Amino acid sequence: MSQQRRFFSHETLEKNIGWLIVCTIVVVSIAGFVQILPLFFQHSTTQPDPGIVPYSPLRLMGRDIYIREGCVGCHSQQVRTLQAEVERYGPYSTAGESVYDHPFLWGSKRTGPDLARVGGRYSDDWQRIHLRNPRDVVPESVMPSYPWLAKTALPTDDIRQRMRTLRALGVPYSEADIEAAPDALKGKTEEDALVAYLQGLGTNRRTLAPTAGQ
Ligand code: HEC
Repeated sequence: MSQQRRFFSHETLEKNIGWLIVCTIVVVSIAGFVQILPLFFQHSTTQPDPGIVPYSPLRLMGRDIYIREGCVGCHSQQVRTLQAEVERYGPYSTAGESVYDHPFLWGSKRTGPDLARVGGRYSDDWQRIHLRNPRDVVPESVMPSYPWLAKTALPTDDIRQRMRTLRALGVPYSEADIEAAPDALKGKTEEDALVAYLQGLGTNRRTLAPTAGQ
């Protein structure tokens, strides 16, 4: 009995690896576009949440030290929308908090606790002691020590370029902010910058309970 064959049936896909690959790529790309494209235009992912302002020059340098030292390899900065997380760390993270973060540092590895809401949880002195030798304040800690940060002066020569680069990516620094930046770093150490960055994490959100659409 001969069944009439259609030119392109599901059987064609099942029996021809070339067609299967091509059609899989087409379907996955459409699905990807449908999910990813709107994120570039949605208000909640492109506009800062209320209270979110660009990093000050000192905090910006601290953030770059955080990246350089690989802190993101052990610490996430992303409170998930789960009750246990919100109870432990505080309000869950929103995309609008990170619009000025290039690159964002959400991370996923948690050898240590999430740091998205750590600002103000401890004193500056605690942060300094902890960075120099975590075991002085948390005896069982496996976090490495970073004693050289307190002895290393912050460079002031490239902060303007760093801020201009971020401005090109959409961070609204004014020319006056950029011109004044090196003065704000004078006499500071890398530790000062990192502590300023850590103490700012999560503190400049005005809405602590995000609602839909923010
Ligand atoms: C090898 C993994 C590891 C690395 C790398 C690491 N940490 Fe930690 N961190 C931990 C662990 C584990 C803890 C919990 C114990 C403690 O408080 O020391 C912690 C705790 C902390 C805390 C206190 C958090 C809280 O809520 O109690 C801060 C702040 C912190 N780390 C900042 C940093 C910074 C800044 C860097 C980079 C300079 C860094 N960590 C690098 C593992 C790490």
